[in-house]
Amino acid sequence: MRRLDQLLASLGYCSRREARAWIAAGRVTVRGTIADEFGAKADPNDVRIDGEPPDHPGGLLLALHKPTGLVCSHEAREGPRVYDLLPPRWLARNPPVTSIGRLDKDTSGLLLLTDQAGLVHRLTSPKHKVPKIYRATVDRDLAPELVARFASGTLMLDGEREPCAPAALKIISAREAELTLTEGKYHQARRMFAACGATVLTLHRTQFGPLELGDLAPGQWRELPLDFFG
Ligand code: URA
Repeated sequence: MRRLDQLLASLGYCSRREARAWIAAGRVTVRGTIADEFGAKADPNDVRIDGEPPDHPGGLLLALHKPTGLVCSHEAREGPRVYDLLPPRWLARNPPVTSIGRLDKDTSGLLLLTDQAGLVHRLTSPKHKVPKIYRATVDRDLAPELVARFASGTLMLDGEREPCAPAALKIISAREAELTLTEGKYHQARRMFAACGATVLTLHRTQFGPLELGDLAPGQWRELPLDFFG
């Protein structure tokens, strides 16, 4: 059961004050009856707003194909944001929709977004070791020794106290590799290659846990069931 004014505001329809005006204007019904009290509580399943069911009252989980050139920050001054790809109402939700971990501006591929804080924690905490798979192209031929170095659990990055957790590197061609990481240090993939003398030219995430990017086009997103990750 949710207070009607709170429900509208938390789902991003309008401010709580505006919600009271929406209710006073008869735009909200509960089980088919116009709501006349903004503080009344109702099951969101029984509510209609301008005749429509509330927009994802139980929460949101999205898989997005992030194109390069967009930032995962909420700050518009840091550049065009991944959030600008979503319906504007979702950006006004509270709790807010945030990315589950981040991809750099120059990295493309699978990005998860949600308003479920517990899910963010579970999927990003290094403790849970959720594998993320990246395709990288680099500026020089990859030495086979890199595979053992990445897997060693001893690779140190500049400015870090702890070495990188063991990471699986599969060399696909002279300058292309697939990298599986189970943690998310800042710019980790780029810095791991840099620690071995190679510069990453392109970086693309193809998989997050059991979820593959598949044929989702750049800039497109699709909804996932909230219990997708169990
Ligand atoms: N590693 C990086 O360097 N960048 C990303 O966006 C993700 C992993």
